[in-house]
Amino acid sequence: IDIKTLRGATNGVITIDPGYKNTGSCESAITFLDGEKGILRYRGYSIEELAEKADFLEVSYALIFGNLPTKSELDKFHNDIRDHSLVDDDVRKILEAFPKTAHPMGVLSSLTSALTAFNPSSVNIESSEDMYNAIVRIMAKFPVLVAWTMRKQKGMHLNYGQKSLGYVENLMFMMFKQPNEDFVINPIVKDALDKLLILHADHEQNCSTSTVRIVGSSHAGLFASLSAGISALWGPLHGGANQAVLEMLEGIRADGGDTKKYMAKAKDKNDPFRLMGFGHRVYKNFDPRAKIIKAAADDVLNDLGVEDPILDIARSLEQEALNDPYFVERKLYPNVDFYSGIIYRAMGIPTEMFTVMFALGRLPGWIAQWKEMRLKKEPIGRPRQIYTGENLRPFVGLEKR
Ligand code: ACO
Repeated sequence: IDIKTLRGATNGVITIDPGYKNTGSCESAITFLDGEKGILRYRGYSIEELAEKADFLEVSYALIFGNLPTKSELDKFHNDIRDHSLVDDDVRKILEAFPKTAHPMGVLSSLTSALTAFNPSSVNIESSEDMYNAIVRIMAKFPVLVAWTMRKQKGMHLNYGQKSLGYVENLMFMMFKQPNEDFVINPIVKDALDKLLILHADHEQNCSTSTVRIVGSSHAGLFASLSAGISALWGPLHGGANQAVLEMLEGIRADGGDTKKYMAKAKDKNDPFRLMGFGHRVYKNFDPRAKIIKAAADDVLNDLGVEDPILDIARSLEQEALNDPYFVERKLYPNVDFYSGIIYRAMGIPTEMFTVMFALGRLPGWIAQWKEMRLKKEPIGRPRQIYTGENLRPFVGLEKR
């Protein structure tokens, strides 16, 4: 029996699976994940090898187009991106209208959606050329929005990058360049940033990616789908965990550094406190990304000569969890976001920007998933439900209620 016949033969039978814990929403050739063994591969390449040997733009290309690029493919992709990095001045005005206190994720989501108005051809994708044009435009403009969002929050003037720089170097230039100062790329920070962006670049059908695919399945444009994905990523149970982890670690430090007290709170079912940066829907052994990031955090802090007391608090929590039956039984280990914030902070990135950095890393993954969904002509995403409300009842006029 083929899948189409099977779907048609359900006679009203609906599977209920809150949180889609056991529901596959699509077939995908982008990211392989084995949660038991802690394996993650993009397009068949191991995450360990990519983090060690590739840069973020190469990985973005592989995710979006299926293979690591040749030198000429990479050069063309990069040049096309460079050609589209200007952002309409009206988008700058929209950014300037936000209060300084606005959360950067809300700003980024709004600006990404606003880009549609200035790139109307990105909405109706009818050919592979339309698709390519939309992809290079957003790969080009998104880092500008990220940098501007941070600069606006810090009260710095808004700038553009430099065409001579690589993709990640240019991002650093746009984020950190101070007026009247020569800008020197710190290679340690650049490598760490490449690594962090690569490790966040895709993670199959997580909450934000599923959002991008489901919004895109209605044939809303790429930028609108991405804007929805950014909103989904914002929440502390998903990408917002990196901000929440740092705030939690700071909170524990300010409270005297008693990690045992917070371990007890995390286990107390009457206490809403959760150990942020711990646990994962799919990884039940370890998160391979967390392993790489933990090592990178040590290296970056050592190389930059930064001593951050919250790193010790993070290490204690991890050690205590490893020996605690509550965490062991539930297979709760540090996830990708447990150590990432410590690195971002050492780089001088404000806490509220952490999830924005995650969004930039995830951008190629969202694009690749959206592209795959459109090319496979997937049907509109439309789950069913089991109705549990009232049966038919008569209407009662306002005066008699
Ligand atoms: N601290 C304490 N207990 C936890 C934690 C935690 N961080 N995570 C899960 N648990 C407990 C739950 O209370 C539950 O216990 P119970 O069986 O006694 O009821 C059990 O472990 C299973 O947890 P669920 O919430 O059912 O697992 P789910 O797969 O739905 O959630 C999630 C996964 C959201 C990641 C969860 O572990 C969590 O909230 N972690 C903290 C937030 C976080 O770090 N999110 C980032 C995830 S990675 C990412 O999105 C990039």
